[in-house]
Amino acid sequence: MAIPDSFLEELVSRSDIVDVVSEYVPLTKRSGSNLFGLCPFHSEKTPSFSVAPDKQIYHCFGCGKGGGVINFIMEIENLPFRDAVALLARRAGMEMPEDDTPGELRSKRARILQLNRDAARFFYENLSRPDGAAAVEYINRRGIAAAMVKRFGLGAAPDKWTGLSDAMLDMGYTVGELADAGLVKRGRNGGIYDTFRNRLIFPVIDARGSVIGFSGRILGDGEPKYLNSPDTPVFTKSRNLFALNLAKKSKRGMFILVEGNVDVVSLHQAGFDCAVASLGTSLTPEQVLLMSRYTKNVVIAYDADSAGVKAAQRAIGMFEKTGMNVRVLRIEGAKDPDEFIKKNGADAFSVLLDKSENHTEYKLMSIRAKHDLNTDDGRLDYLKEATEMLAQVSNAVEREIYARHVADDAEVSVEAVKTEVDKAGRRLRAIRKKQRERQNMRPEAAIQPAASSLRYENPASAAAEEGIVRLIIMDPSLAFKTGELKKEDFTSPFLGKIFETVRGRAQAGEDVSPPLVAAGLTADEAAQFTTLMQRPVSAANAAQALGDYIDKIKTEKLKNSAGRDLLAVRERLREKKGFGG
Ligand code: CTP
Ligand code: MN
Repeated sequence: MAIPDSFLEELVSRSDIVDVVSEYVPLTKRSGSNLFGLCPFHSEKTPSFSVAPDKQIYHCFGCGKGGGVINFIMEIENLPFRDAVALLARRAGMEMPEDDTPGELRSKRARILQLNRDAARFFYENLSRPDGAAAVEYINRRGIAAAMVKRFGLGAAPDKWTGLSDAMLDMGYTVGELADAGLVKRGRNGGIYDTFRNRLIFPVIDARGSVIGFSGRILGDGEPKYLNSPDTPVFTKSRNLFALNLAKKSKRGMFILVEGNVDVVSLHQAGFDCAVASLGTSLTPEQVLLMSRYTKNVVIAYDADSAGVKAAQRAIGMFEKTGMNVRVLRIEGAKDPDEFIKKNGADAFSVLLDKSENHTEYKLMSIRAKHDLNTDDGRLDYLKEATEMLAQVSNAVEREIYARHVADDAEVSVEAVKTEVDKAGRRLRAIRKKQRERQNMRPEAAIQPAASSLRYENPASAAAEEGIVRLIIMDPSLAFKTGELKKEDFTSPFLGKIFETVRGRAQAGEDVSPPLVAAGLTADEAAQFTTLMQRPVSAANAAQALGDYIDKIKTEKLKNSAGRDLLAVRERLREKKGFGG
């Protein structure tokens, strides 16, 4: 019996590779966003075993082994696939699944997506009907431009109990399907009523462009301010972001994370097309991981109130854990980005954006939040971490100021803190010096993949073949733009196989994150796969790059077959000559 994909997706998202690997291998060094330790699969004295928190894979630059979290457990515990999954499931507190019929689930998902699309159209079209008048008025009051209404596909849920459901039932959808999509609720008398009524509707669209759910904002004041689709077979709030479909195309090379959907729209309208919001949950590790797939840079622009500040502190830690560069933007003189831009304009927001930085104060707060300052042990751990952080602050005055804060928090003297900061500073400089020396001795050895572990027949084509795989993993919607390309066109059978697997998964709406792709591969293949995942991929001009890669593969193939034809002609000539002579 196969384990359903949905289960593996959840398992992998609940089994952070850093946490799992750390239970076996101390990851003592950091280089860029990767963590390094001594490889458990071959003997070595300097760490070449890397773990990439953003990609959720491990890869040893020494022996070449690699994979996702499931591969790691299979390898290190020497377990078959199912048993490795069971081990991780126990660890994550998940129950192994009973039998499931994936085929049925798949078509159910497809049907819900279709229904969502039709519902989104219904909401949108309401804006030009009397049923949408109140929403239109609200849109105008908030200064949302017509172009944004269109770009986001905003809509109106009528102020009626069964406005949407009547329309969808007319189109042939069933009550069961409406309920599965979370669009209706069942009343006490057994009847149904619409989930979204008298609200401004924001369709939630995933990176692939599918409408997976909805947020509905109340028109004016009242509670709850936002209503979101419940989790359905196609929608998990904690694993999606509002406006990711748009923001992933931004050329700004970062995300701006805000609280409200209106803030998102307002930012896009002002030209900040990289704004996203989490869907009414506090930020989750899955959302962080999702963002890290597109860019390493994020600016948090939460509301200026104390709840926003607190949420930002928490988020900083989560982004840093994933190796992302996180900055915090402080809204001044307004309650949120929307109000700020209305008051001061887009240029003023740009200034705030440039000013935003990773405030020492924020960092300190997030370190403090991790420790219990009521115990001696807690205070010691806090001191250790806080002084290490302060040692990295280059400004001496700032170091001094925060050393005082730390001393107060930990109830020790300022002098003691400063001594510790100095010591940590010396350690840090020594480590950096060693790192530089090592890098000089072995240029690029620490970051470059062991290229020899991959031997390709046609390197020119293989580079393009690898590139396509990386692009689809970064942006699964590209899977639909690969046209007629098939694995036989690939010069490397391995890459051809990976390509078809990844494209198939992406087109079926399944997760193509590296650990899930790797889970379906043999140990050798997984190792090759993580090697190719080491090479960088850029979100800018992705569609263009995809086109170029496809052209490259096709021309190489043509050349190849032309070469073979020539060879055949020569053979024939030689044969003829042979007969003649
Ligand atoms: N929220 C939610 N569901 C969403 C988006 C946001 O439940 N899909 C929640 C957030 O968790 C946050 C609040 O709603 O607590 C966001 O509020 P706010 O930023 O005030 O939303 P806006 O629409 O920008 O409202 P306002 O116009 O009042 O600024
Ligand atoms: Mn707001």
